Amino acid sequence: MSAPIRSKRRTIADIKALKGVRPIVSLTAYTAPMAQFLDPHVDFLLVGDSLGMVLYGFETTLPVTLDLMIAHGAAVVRGSKAALVVVDMPFGSYQESREQAFRSAARIIAETGAQAVKLEGGEEMADTIRFMTERGVPVLGHVGLTPQLVNVFGGYKTQGRNQAQVAKIMADAAAVADAGAFGFVLEGTLEPVARDIAARAPVPVIGIGASPQCDGQVLVTEDMLGMFNEFQPRHVKRYAELGVEIGKAAAAYADEVKARTFPAIEHTFQPKA
Ligand code: KIV
Repeated sequence: MSAPIRSKRRTIADIKALKGVRPIVSLTAYTAPMAQFLDPHVDFLLVGDSLGMVLYGFETTLPVTLDLMIAHGAAVVRGSKAALVVVDMPFGSYQESREQAFRSAARIIAETGAQAVKLEGGEEMADTIRFMTERGVPVLGHVGLTPQLVNVFGGYKTQGRNQAQVAKIMADAAAVADAGAFGFVLEGTLEPVARDIAARAPVPVIGIGASPQCDGQVLVTEDMLGMFNEFQPRHVKRYAELGVEIGKAAAAYADEVKARTFPAIEHTFQPKA
């Protein structure tokens, strides 16, 4: 088991300084108790809009609202003390204009206490990222497979499979870094392309379905714990089968309730003698 990382909350500068030193560790968290479990082991916690699918049962991330992200972001900040916390900007909260993006991000930062926001998009979002970072909002970019474009791409398709796609991801990665993002998530991209992007990028590249040569890795926690079975993407390694364990615990409880062996005497309150 790897040793816990440290006790003081990480900063953006700490994350940037890890590029070329050691891989950056990140997992998603949506709730205070999960943040508490993960906090000693990660460099940053990502409050991903994947919570729409994982917690709320939506088919995509698109219905997730700014208020929902703020509620979960604040819970994760309360539950953690060492990791940097990054909160996803949900669909519709930043694409309209750079001013709209700044206002939404300002609400996230002010109302959650998180240190940074993440938004999806490459060249087309560069102007927005520059506007936000110049005004004090640290931004983590997200390029490659961008789930909020599910309806444009017609599904969750691995990127970098042809020359046009490779050129587009390269341009997106360069634009996001040049605009001032302190790093970017690179999702669902062919491994050699991802490796090349990480080698060229001046900022940390956090892979998911990308390459072990990225500057760090992120996974959806419920995926890697075996608690979310709607999708079984190739990039997920299951480090535990908590869904199975939860089922076993619920079955044991149900058996004991029906047999009246729970609650036992030690779980009841008796009058004082
Ligand atoms: O929403 C999310 O959890 C994400 C990660 C998959 C990178 O964006």
